[in-house]
Amino acid sequence: MKYLVTIVLFFIGFGNGFAQSGLIPQPVAYHRNSGEFTLTALAKLSSDSGVPAALLKLTQEQIRSLTGFTLPVSSTNASISLKIDSLKVSQPEGYHLRIQPKSIELIGHDQAGLFYGVQSLVQLISQSSDLRLPACSIKDYPRFSYRGMHLDVSRHWFRVPFIKKYIDLLAQYKFNTFHWHLTDDQGWRIEIKRYPQLQETAAFRSQTLIGHKRELPHRFDGKKYGGYYTQDEVREVVRYAAQRHITIIPEIEMPGHALAALSAFPALGCTGGPYQAATFWGIFDDVYCAGNDSTFTFLQHVLDEVVELFPSKYIHIGGDECPKTRWKSCPKCQARMKHEGLKDEHELQSYFIQRMEKYLLTKNREIIGWDEILEGGLSPGATVMSWRGTEGGIEAMRQKHKAIMTPEMFVYFDFYQSLYPQEQVAAAWYTPLSKVYSYEPVPDSLTQEEASYLLGVQGNVWSEYLSTDAKAEYMIFPRALAVAEIAWSPKTGRTYTDFLRRLRKNESLLKRLKVNYAKVFDEITDTVLVTAPGKIQLRLKTTLPQATIRYTTDGSEPQATSSIYTSALPIPKTQTIRAAVFQGKVQQGRVFEKSFTISKSTGKPLLLATAPKGNFIPSSSLVAVNGVQGTARYNTGEWLGFLGENAEWRLDLQKTETVSVISINVLKYHWQRFWEPTALHMLVSEDGKNYREVYQHKDFPINGINEIKGQFQPTRARFVKIKAENKGIVPAGEYGAGNKAWLLMDELIVN
Ligand code: ACM
Ligand code: ZN
Repeated sequence: MKYLVTIVLFFIGFGNGFAQSGLIPQPVAYHRNSGEFTLTALAKLSSDSGVPAALLKLTQEQIRSLTGFTLPVSSTNASISLKIDSLKVSQPEGYHLRIQPKSIELIGHDQAGLFYGVQSLVQLISQSSDLRLPACSIKDYPRFSYRGMHLDVSRHWFRVPFIKKYIDLLAQYKFNTFHWHLTDDQGWRIEIKRYPQLQETAAFRSQTLIGHKRELPHRFDGKKYGGYYTQDEVREVVRYAAQRHITIIPEIEMPGHALAALSAFPALGCTGGPYQAATFWGIFDDVYCAGNDSTFTFLQHVLDEVVELFPSKYIHIGGDECPKTRWKSCPKCQARMKHEGLKDEHELQSYFIQRMEKYLLTKNREIIGWDEILEGGLSPGATVMSWRGTEGGIEAMRQKHKAIMTPEMFVYFDFYQSLYPQEQVAAAWYTPLSKVYSYEPVPDSLTQEEASYLLGVQGNVWSEYLSTDAKAEYMIFPRALAVAEIAWSPKTGRTYTDFLRRLRKNESLLKRLKVNYAKVFDEITDTVLVTAPGKIQLRLKTTLPQATIRYTTDGSEPQATSSIYTSALPIPKTQTIRAAVFQGKVQQGRVFEKSFTISKSTGKPLLLATAPKGNFIPSSSLVAVNGVQGTARYNTGEWLGFLGENAEWRLDLQKTETVSVISINVLKYHWQRFWEPTALHMLVSEDGKNYREVYQHKDFPINGINEIKGQFQPTRARFVKIKAENKGIVPAGEYGAGNKAWLLMDELIVN
């Protein structure tokens, strides 16, 4: 038997070169060789002359933090050697790492490559409980030259020790860029010596929203909030990052997201103020006045100091979410448009960005802007950060502009990573680890030449709901590790399953570094299936190996003795399924819960006269009759959303029944452009031709889910029709005014 096990291991080890590596990101090539290197306090480090002392010291420090001993540096008898050789290792940022029973040899193409080799070595050390490192040879280099993570420090701000810890973690996973979002409506976070008012006023807001912004009426904590990084702190962070081969790209937002700056300099806004730094989250109409030359002077003076602090080739100047409301009625902005021959406010925004680009070019810097900078014409040398999807990036590359992919549906970490209701409050959508990992940054639709403008990929961390370091870490990790792998590792030869295996090996390092990472990636996920009219099933899944799912159907807590899930569960009646993952008798993670309401409508054919749109396209219209109701979190895939159009649903009960209650839910969140219908009609028919209205509803008072229940005299019906009249266009004064309103409905229940 032992013989057989050895053979199996042999095949895993050699049959698949990757199978034994615990590294994230997965290296380009990994080969396990026989034997092990045992790391002890007697090992010595040597380095050639090209290796900077700082890198050697950092290497010693990283190894010490894991092993407890500081390896001495010695030119003789050193078992661990560090070298730089751009001929032996031809790819920039690349390295070769060879671990043999008596030696470890690490060669970098450049200092960065050597540093990344050290990071791989450190990960391997962290994964060996007895410091016996498997002999192996690794050849590695990055897929993309831009591997970024972002952090918004305006909505909540994070002190220098946290920023350094973040940088350490980014470096460990071979990111090379930190995008520091330093200014926004809710606070200005960088010291600008020329303008002390930024520190005194713009860095603070009077109070902060409590809970999610969808909860109305808004509640506030009444506490002044704020702070900023001094220039000394910024310099220290930039130096710290550079040592770890991380470039920091600062973002100074313009022309929108500027309320905090305007609170200190009201003359720079179109109306002249007064303004207050925002106390809640969203997009605000008050932006920098583009007609006022003082705006440009101010921003140029700010950038003068910013470029002195940050040596990065790129400066990010924002450009996103700038409402044109004020510009439309501002005499100065209108005069500017006339004088410059600009045909609309989008061109005015383009003028704004181009003017700033020209200024930064005099300082030898290039600009990055969010994809809105395409509107009204792209600034000549601008790099586009594609966030609203991938279209902006694609368009930029077609125009021969550089692009960085950061599409919100894949790499925004303010979105939920679990659908469990216990999750900490998050922005909106559902982006589990698996979805992040599935993202492929190179769009299919581009030619090779066009795609050569793609610099890389970045994960974004907006901090509206990240009021503590722990909350931020929870949202960032481990999803950032998926971005690290997408950004570094070749597209082929890696799988999500193997990534998870390596992630589990990386947990020891994350724990050592005291990272409050989310351990939810193996939690139960589910699919609700309509298998036949009237018949639904619940399918459950966990990615945890050697685990069983146990469940109950009576609402009780699952135990180690509860039924074992083996195949999809039929749901014949209204009930709640609770389930948990067990390894042996030990429950792993939280309890999954799903409630079903089964009625005459469940699983029956449903026709939609108009098509759902955007993020509210269900996997099938049957989602509206699958027994599961959409929740206030609206990200579960249950809501059907109609954009600017009426909804008309026709349900076929498939036989004539006696019907007396029809219910349906409507989700109303004006802040998200989800509007109640102006009227909702319920109709029934026996023949599918002649319909009779049995109920009509016009009152939707609840901010959130409005449960509409039409009760009427029992009547014979085979067909049920729901007609809901969309609000159409969002009215003036409301969020998203002038745009189409969403109408969200789910779960048609008939009894
Ligand atoms: C963004 O998320 N507004 C760039
Ligand atoms: Zn103006």
